Amino acid sequence: MVRKVLLIFALVQVVFGSDMAPWNYDDTMKWGDDYPFCDGNEQSPIDIKDAMEKEFDNLLSFSTNYMTCITGTLFNNGHTVQFNVDESEPSRLIFQGPLGSQPYKLLQFHLHWGSDSTKGSEHTLDGQAFPAEIHLVHVNASLDGPLGKRGDLAVVGLFIEVGENAKMAFQPLVEKLPSLKNKDDSTSITINMADILGGVEDFSKWTTYLGSLTTPGCNEIVTWINMEDPIKMAEEELKELRTLINSDKKPMVDNFRPPLELKDRKLYKNMPKAT
Ligand SMILES: *[C@@H]1O[C@H](CO)[C@@H](O)[C@H](O)[C@H]1NC(C)=O
Repeated sequence: MVRKVLLIFALVQVVFGSDMAPWNYDDTMKWGDDYPFCDGNEQSPIDIKDAMEKEFDNLLSFSTNYMTCITGTLFNNGHTVQFNVDESEPSRLIFQGPLGSQPYKLLQFHLHWGSDSTKGSEHTLDGQAFPAEIHLVHVNASLDGPLGKRGDLAVVGLFIEVGENAKMAFQPLVEKLPSLKNKDDSTSITINMADILGGVEDFSKWTTYLGSLTTPGCNEIVTWINMEDPIKMAEEELKELRTLINSDKKPMVDNFRPPLELKDRKLYKNMPKAT
């Protein structure tokens, strides 16, 4: 079991550890020069609009231990601040909804944000950008080969708006930021997922589509689930994020990829079952 976990971890690193060619957010349309998948037809993010209502057999579900404290490593990877769940942690799973019976295990989360609060999210809602977006990245818990096919990952995206977060959910993370100024700075941290997700008023309001990683290599292996209800972060906390330094030794801001065309894909909106 441990070996399998290590194997998956190594394979995930291959996909995410995209420092083969350096990249940044100056011209995201050029990513395809070094990372051909970025020019594909099933890319993320997208503008979320005109979703088709669809009834899914079961509610999107979280394992009962999901909304608890999780220990991991928080680090500056040169493009964002990311939290990697410790391998010793019991699996936190999501399943059902658009994922069917296949459980997906939480690996990491990270954020995207703007240089000011008029922008920062990757997905947009009817053309509207939010000041930030958080991505909870999950891997097919039964995966026994390399990452590389559609549906290998399930990412839950949440918009972040400016406001008082009743649970002070991001406070523990924000307090660590001064020690994570530069690429590869890292620290251990315990995050309460109940607080992070506590701001979601209605977990049945989401859309789903098939897309990609939003950073190079842009692999088209992601089932996206985008929550409609934004969560909140204080402007002061967003300001702290903007003090981080990226891999070009510049302020880590506007680390979002603008929306791409839906093209031939379908965007579904969960229609809660009549009870
Ligand atoms: C998850 O991985 C297993 C093992 O590779 C595979 O059989 C299954 O089809 C995958 N599930 C999805 C939804 O891709």
